[in-house]
Amino acid sequence: MKTVVFVLAFTLLMVPAFRAQSPDPRWAKGMDLSWAFPDPSPDFPPEDKNAVKHVPGSSKSYTQGQIDDIYNPPDWFPEEHMPYPKVVARGEGTATPGCAACHLASGSGHPESANLTGLTADYLLTQMHDFQQGRRTDPRHRMSEIAKGMTEDESKEASAYFASLKPLHWIRVVETDMVPETYLNEGRRRYIRPGGHMEPIGSRIIEVPEDPARITARDPHIGFVAYVPKGSLARGEELAKTGGAGKTTACVACHGPALMGIGPIPRIAGHSPNYITRQLAGFQVGARNSDMDQLMKGVVANLTQDDIVALAAYVGSVGPEK
Ligand code: HEC
Ligand code: HEC
Repeated sequence: MKTVVFVLAFTLLMVPAFRAQSPDPRWAKGMDLSWAFPDPSPDFPPEDKNAVKHVPGSSKSYTQGQIDDIYNPPDWFPEEHMPYPKVVARGEGTATPGCAACHLASGSGHPESANLTGLTADYLLTQMHDFQQGRRTDPRHRMSEIAKGMTEDESKEASAYFASLKPLHWIRVVETDMVPETYLNEGRRRYIRPGGHMEPIGSRIIEVPEDPARITARDPHIGFVAYVPKGSLARGEELAKTGGAGKTTACVACHGPALMGIGPIPRIAGHSPNYITRQLAGFQVGARNSDMDQLMKGVVANLTQDDIVALAAYVGSVGPEK
């Protein structure tokens, strides 16, 4: 009996401790943000890896297999950026995939990764260190693993490269009650399901390519449309500009009037709303826990799922002019 009581007491003690150590931002505070942390759908249609792809304005061609090779991703417009450091193009040997595979050569990224443009080299390097040293985790530890495989010189070169890129207008935000049914491919990218079926949006943000064929080819000249619930833009703007009567702290106070960043505080305007959602949840559960991240803790403490959706919608909708 004593042993049972001991084991029970021990288990009860361990449960909260274990939860604190493995926070899952998908279910932050009982929310369901799983739509922003998507896994491949069980029935995604396979891609023809031998199909030869072109994108408008580039004389290059790649097969879909080459496009999806994360150790040697495509560079459709090499003339549009400074020469690549090796780690951006192909990583080191087979250990590190090239950054351009997920973030694109242009740095604009996809909703399932992150937009690295309009950020300072200092901010980017600090994030690499945070991933390396476990102060920041993404739910699948993808970036953490990649960062841990890099040398300090590679982290510096990659940070300088992405800091040199100009932010583009990359996200078009549309308010709606209903959204097309979607699926996620093997790369966790969301596409509209053929058949024209619609479903209620609920408290979600559904981001799909403006042009599926071009996004599948990783064309850096075309971005995404983000469907958001009706009313989110006005509510998000109120929260971002005023803090919503004490609900949060006005984002503009730290991130700047246009949310384009000031000093060590990063640009958030025009980032993918799915990415913003993941970060706000990440600050809430401690998946981002550096000294600088403590400044975001009070900001997110009282946010509900609808608040996060509204903020992500608004923040994604502002940003670099076309
Ligand atoms: C396999 C895909 C993949 C590759 C390759 C990749 N990343 Fe990432 N990266 C991600 C994902 C996913 C995130 C977003 C994590 C999250 O949502 O918190 C991310 C986020 C980041 C961030 C944080 C951005 C911010 O605004 O805070 C930085 C910095 C970054 N990556 C740098 C790099 C560099 C440098 C490389 C090349 C060495 C690289 N990444 C390669 C998937 C990738
Ligand atoms: C007290 C200052 C402060 C306020 C107010 C603030 N932020 Fe932040 N925010 C920061 C700092 C500092 C960072 C960078 C943390 C780091 O370096 O890792 C940050 C980072 C972020 C990031 C991650 C950016 C990226 O590239 O990964 C997001 C998203 C964000 N803030 C959203 C918001 C929103 C939305 C609001 C308003 C509701 C807000 N912030 C208000 C200080 C603030």
